[in-house]
Amino acid sequence: MDRDSIQERFGIIGKSAALRHVIDQIRLVARTDVGVLIQGESGVGKELVAHAIHEMSQRRHGQMIIVNCGAIPEGLLESELFGTEKGAYTGAVERRAGYFEEADKSSIFLDEIGEMPQNAQVRLLRVLESGEFSRVGSAVARKTDARVIAATNKDLSREVEAGRFREDLYYRLSTVIINIPPLRQRPDDILPLFDQFLHRYTQEYDSSPRNLTSDARELLGRYRWPGNVRELRNVAERMVVLLRKNEVTAEDIRPHLRGVSASGASGGLVKVERDDFSDEDGDRSMGLVYRALVELRMEIRELKEQINQLAGGGSLHLLPRKLLKRGDSDLVVVKADDQEQFESFIEEVPYEIAADEDAPAGDGQPKDAPAPLIEEDKPLPTLEDAERRLINEALKRFDGNRRQTARALGISERTLYRKLKEEEEAGDGSD
Ligand SMILES: Nc1ncnc2c1ncn2[C@@H]1O[C@H](COP(=O)(O)OP(=O)(O)OP(=O)(O)O)[C@@H](O)[C@H]1O
Ligand SMILES: [Mg+2]
Repeated sequence: MDRDSIQERFGIIGKSAALRHVIDQIRLVARTDVGVLIQGESGVGKELVAHAIHEMSQRRHGQMIIVNCGAIPEGLLESELFGTEKGAYTGAVERRAGYFEEADKSSIFLDEIGEMPQNAQVRLLRVLESGEFSRVGSAVARKTDARVIAATNKDLSREVEAGRFREDLYYRLSTVIINIPPLRQRPDDILPLFDQFLHRYTQEYDSSPRNLTSDARELLGRYRWPGNVRELRNVAERMVVLLRKNEVTAEDIRPHLRGVSASGASGGLVKVERDDFSDEDGDRSMGLVYRALVELRMEIRELKEQINQLAGGGSLHLLPRKLLKRGDSDLVVVKADDQEQFESFIEEVPYEIAADEDAPAGDGQPKDAPAPLIEEDKPLPTLEDAERRLINEALKRFDGNRRQTARALGISERTLYRKLKEEEEAGDGSD
């Protein structure tokens, strides 16, 4: 199959040299059984590529098993992957096959492999080397013929250096590494992607066609797309859902480009009132529902990004609202590796930074608004404090559902459990 047919068949859009190289790699590895490690930032298309590899392989008749190693609690991952034998641990009353058995003759996609705990890493290494494994609680060796495709948004070689990821496993996994560069490093893909998503969503929402003006194109091309293709897709979706006109201008798009801003005011959710569902105006009410849903998605993503930034490398800049001439956020979080990157980031965001950090406090908060993370006349919260408040806010939004909370915050459930535990141990009864 040639490159174009592969792109067409799997809906992989883009014409940059980098993307074409990725397609060539997919084509090469699909015919073989070698392990593949797909690396790239969040939202670049790692899962899309994994599907393409599986679907083009001899194994396509079996279903690819997808396992998010970061989402399964540490103690459960081994038995999920390799199965359990009766009596393995208290409460394990059944024998159960693991994902590796299910994936026999097919492929297994190990997403977020960098989150895999050490003991599971040992078992994985054994499977990769010999095709053998045993269920948890059993010494009987079993065989599986599962093709492993792994993905990570971490730099795994660094994880090895830091002693968190086994070196021998890394070498096993990385026979072939497919690196998918972030969107900002392949700007040629931005407009084809945006046009295609506009087209896709106008069909999906049964809406009229949208066209980008030249200033809109220019803006999209300049933006850094920290959330990569996923973010771009969401912005395109918003343009179809929220706009009631065919021409999409830079002004329409700008408020939806963020990457650095987060709305913190009053919980931030757009409320859909009961009255909005009035029968007389069905069209309008559906618009409001869509709008609320899209807004909600944005909120969650922004929250996720904030916590990613809190947890990730680089330095974190917390900018209170008084530093902004425009914008309705209480807090803006900017992550940058160095000052230069920070400044270039600032130029590209739809906010302007006021010159004087020590300018007197601006307008007051409405009386009933929850306390903002940063208050102008109070000392800055510590990172730990900011993180704790963010987590509590997120838990509130998801009614205490930890799985959803972790996903929204862009951390593994395990990390969330650990943080909650730490918090529980650290503070008792401060409220
Ligand atoms: N080149 C592309 N063409 C079309 N759609 C794409 C492309 N790259 C990514 N997408 C779409 O963007 C979204 C995010 O992609 P995907 O889930 O594969 O990213 P990911 O790298 O696995 O992200 P994460 O690390 O957050 O799991 C998906 O809807 C996917 O279909
Ligand atoms: Mg993914």
